[in-house]
Amino acid sequence: MQTVTIKVNGETFTESVPPRLLLVDFLRERLALTGTHVGCTHEGVCGACTVHLDGDAVKSCLMLAVQADGHDITTVEGLAKGEELSALQRAFREEHGLQCGFCTPGILMNMTDFLKRNPNPTDDEIRQGLIGNLCRCTGYVHIVRAVRTAAKMLAAEAR
Ligand code: FES
Ligand code: FES
Repeated sequence: MQTVTIKVNGETFTESVPPRLLLVDFLRERLALTGTHVGCTHEGVCGACTVHLDGDAVKSCLMLAVQADGHDITTVEGLAKGEELSALQRAFREEHGLQCGFCTPGILMNMTDFLKRNPNPTDDEIRQGLIGNLCRCTGYVHIVRAVRTAAKMLAAEAR
């Protein structure tokens, strides 16, 4: 076992973990943060497990909990500020960017990072940015629209 100290959504956790425990399992099973989903067999193909590591989107099934020692993690539970949803969350709600919602946490985390790097993306760039996220329901049209709407909301908020 190894002791790790990881800040998750602003709260610091010190836990003893097996060296091979995946970060996604640490979040879901130790911290009960089940908004981070597992949609493939930990192969890094579905993106449902995406979280932020020090602000950058990473697939938490491709990382060990011990690799997050000393780092800041944000999960989908940490995206809203209290009752106030993020612009991207609001845009997903307004544009019907989800159906079953299974893929949504990972897409929200990935696209939050994406919009930080590219605040004014084209639809093609949004589609490229979504390559690592699989959605089995929507056909992506509404997801792309939601990301575009969020970019507009963020631009308006920055004015
Ligand atoms: S669970 Fe599918 S990419 Fe991580
Ligand atoms: S909304 Fe169902 S998998 Fe994407």
